[in-house]
Amino acid sequence: MDPIAFSIKYLSGLDPRLLSVLERQVKKVPALRRLIESEYDKLLRDIEDEVKPYRKVYGSLDRLPAEGRSHEEILEEMEAIREREAARWRSGYVSGAVYHGDDRHVEFLNKVYAINSQSNPLHSDLWPSTSRYDAEVVAMTARMLGAGATGDEICGTVTSGGTESILLAMKSYRDRARETRGVRRPEMVAPVTAHAAFDKACQYFRIKKVTVPVGRDGRALVGGVKEAITRKTVVVVGSAPSFPHGAIDPIAEMSALAARRGIGFHTDACLGGFVLPWAEKLGYDVPPFDFRLPGVTSMSVDTHKFGYAAKGTSVVLYRGKELRHYQYFTTTDWPGGIYFSPTFAGSRPGALSAAAWATMVSMGEKGYLEATRRILETASRFRDAITAIPELEVIGNPLWVIAFTSRSLDIYQVMQNMTERGWNLNGLHKPSCVHVCITLRHTQPGVADRFAQDLKAAVEDARERPGVHEGMAPIYGMAATLPLRGLVGDMLKHYMDLLYKV
Ligand SMILES: Cc1ncc(COP(=O)(O)O)c(C=O)c1O
Repeated sequence: MDPIAFSIKYLSGLDPRLLSVLERQVKKVPALRRLIESEYDKLLRDIEDEVKPYRKVYGSLDRLPAEGRSHEEILEEMEAIREREAARWRSGYVSGAVYHGDDRHVEFLNKVYAINSQSNPLHSDLWPSTSRYDAEVVAMTARMLGAGATGDEICGTVTSGGTESILLAMKSYRDRARETRGVRRPEMVAPVTAHAAFDKACQYFRIKKVTVPVGRDGRALVGGVKEAITRKTVVVVGSAPSFPHGAIDPIAEMSALAARRGIGFHTDACLGGFVLPWAEKLGYDVPPFDFRLPGVTSMSVDTHKFGYAAKGTSVVLYRGKELRHYQYFTTTDWPGGIYFSPTFAGSRPGALSAAAWATMVSMGEKGYLEATRRILETASRFRDAITAIPELEVIGNPLWVIAFTSRSLDIYQVMQNMTERGWNLNGLHKPSCVHVCITLRHTQPGVADRFAQDLKAAVEDARERPGVHEGMAPIYGMAATLPLRGLVGDMLKHYMDLLYKV
């Protein structure tokens, strides 16, 4: 079961007055806190089997096996698990998650990983190949996003994913503002739709997040950005596009505002960095979002999403080395020797950099152009299927991350009806809506037609049996209204504990 849905389902079953008292008191009284925690554990026991499906089949290890198992046996077990799990995403029922996934591509990436599995960029003297892969992945990504069109040097690093790219950029802005402007209480200006990784950066690095509202089309309101900027602002953020609604923020206006105030601007192109440049070449209406805008001073771009590399890499880019220097770590006092590392990790998997490089080089411009063409054509068929249904409404004007809502039906009930037909869509809130992120998986023959048929049937079901709340539908509905953010957060921490339970 979806952990968020699970927490909300249980918490919303309790008396709201009792809950709000608990919420305030729980953290203060250790005995009460322990009681609530044991309650969480009891609740989570109900879903333990679902979260741990392999326990019954293969058992569970809480210590090393006395003697090692044979390679054959381990591989056989893993192959069986892979088959079971791939069945969920292979045929294109899942929103996002696997962006390429063709057998030949996966086999190629696996070979590249195998060749490079021992390499570590921390020891670039032993594996100079890894610095070649890293440097070229950064350079190729930068060039795709306007590096050649500006007089400035666009540089960056390879990271472990979108979140790390965002965390590193935010840390760099915080440190630069402290050093150059003496900002002690830093603030980040970001649309409410910016990815949760920006909230994570704020928590980790003690930055205050100043949230900018978005319009009905899901795009940040420029007026809101103007109002939010203060002398403590260290960075302004925009998405191209945003995760929830696939909306491209007005990056040109937002970055110009930031530049006028002498503040950096970060475009989060984790989702769009490897799609938008090709969409533009294909003639789609793509507003400016990259380094061709002089106010854009950094970007996050995910090789492991629409770059089609193996999971575990992204690129953070900066306008100029000076900003990148705030990301780097060096120490000269450690008894272990003089030490430096460009990102959060020390040792890193060189094989993943190699896989990102190999993917980009094997795709080439032509490969990305063709992949984008297929995705955008398929997305427009998905969008047509949604707009053909009078009860549904697409939010904004998205290209391939399509969020839809309904004024007359419970949209979560529609989503639940789609789940029953095998689909795995994303339930969002504020406003209540559902999204589907189109990947190459959806471009397989028959998938768009299947979506159209299933959506029509799912809406008919919801229309004929309104208010019949089953499965997850009522839970998503409650998520937005539940006043107990703290308890939901606590519950999710217990859920994460469960993931690590053997
Ligand atoms: C717009 C956007 N930014 C950042 C991220 C975070 O990426 P990751 O999950 O690789 O850390 C995502 C993930 O979906 C995203 O859609």
